[in-house]
Amino acid sequence: MSTPVAAIAILLVAAAATANAATYTNHTVGDPAVWFFNVSTNSSASNYSDWASTQTFNLGDYLIFNTTTNETVVQTTNATAYKSCSADDTSDDTSIYDSGSNVFGQTITIAVPLTIEGSNYFFSDPGDDGFQCERGMRFEIKVNHGSGLPPILNQPPPPPYAPPPASEPPPVFEGSGGGQGQSISGCWTKIGGGFPSTVRVAVAAILGLGMAV
Ligand SMILES: *[C@@H]1O[C@H](CO)[C@@H](O)[C@H](O)[C@H]1NC(C)=O
Ligand SMILES: *[C@@H]1O[C@H](CO)[C@@H](O)[C@H](O)[C@H]1NC(C)=O
Ligand SMILES: *[C@@H]1O[C@H](CO)[C@@H](O)[C@H](O)[C@H]1NC(C)=O
Ligand SMILES: *[C@@H]1O[C@H](CO)[C@@H](O)[C@H](O)[C@H]1NC(C)=O
Ligand SMILES: *[C@@H]1O[C@H](CO)[C@@H](O)[C@H](O)[C@H]1NC(C)=O
Ligand SMILES: *[C@@H]1O[C@H](CO)[C@@H](O)[C@H](O)[C@H]1NC(C)=O
Ligand SMILES: *[C@@H]1O[C@H](CO)[C@@H](O)[C@H](O)[C@H]1NC(C)=O
Repeated sequence: MSTPVAAIAILLVAAAATANAATYTNHTVGDPAVWFFNVSTNSSASNYSDWASTQTFNLGDYLIFNTTTNETVVQTTNATAYKSCSADDTSDDTSIYDSGSNVFGQTITIAVPLTIEGSNYFFSDPGDDGFQCERGMRFEIKVNHGSGLPPILNQPPPPPYAPPPASEPPPVFEGSGGGQGQSISGCWTKIGGGFPSTVRVAVAAILGLGMAV
């Protein structure tokens, strides 16, 4: 008669092990190439669409962009913005990751958590003119549910914005509260206050100086 208790205990251990086994993948974009636009040839270092088609993406995975300060990473769920290579006029469906550096060509790594299921689009547009994007610096992925978001990425949305009384100074927004994925990786921070139509993100993870590749 003691067997059921032992069996249940074993089942519980097995269930816990299964839950802990949820694994997430870091995808190095373009691997083994990098997220890089060659200014001599006006072309991308890799066919990123071909690369993306070799990967399976799940919620909680990261895209790791090994890149330089000459490129940016624009992430959007807005297919129109992606097709037109422009992050202008988008709402909170777009995030821009850039280095916050004025120095050309510094090697940096940008880690982007995948927190939105379904179609996600990525492109580079440092000049805000669509130039790099139109010449191959773009790709689309489909993010599956997989194991779902890990708790560390599963942040609640920010509270709704309430305008302050006219007599008070405008609020300053720093750090958390700007959307999914904030304050989690430690690799990047949001800069700029208020609720801009586009979230601009500065990447603090400058790994080295010098030329890419
Ligand atoms: C994936 O990248 C994130 C962000 O840089 C990092 O926190 C995490 O440790 C990485 N995971 C693995 C398995 O390398
Ligand atoms: C990308 O950067 C990461 C972290 O610096 C490094 O471990 C990895 O080898 C790099 N991959 C490529 C293809 O350069
Ligand atoms: C850019 O392309 C040219 C011509 O193919 C090549 O010689 C050069 O090494 C490339 N630059 C980088 C940084 O990859
Ligand atoms: C790259 O594009 C720039 C800007 O349009 C142009 O001036 C330059 O001649 C192009 N270079 C090549 C190799 O096509
Ligand atoms: C998507 O982007 C287009 C411009 O590229 C813009 O007109 C449209 O309002 C955007 N949609 C949303 C939901 O932001
Ligand atoms: C970065 O851009 C600058 C200005 O266009 C260019 O002179 C430099 O060669 C680029 N560096 C790399 C690594 O692409
Ligand atoms: C990437 O390759 C696909 C075919 O596999 C092609 O249709 C597409 O135009 C290529 N993209 C670029 C930017 O060269």
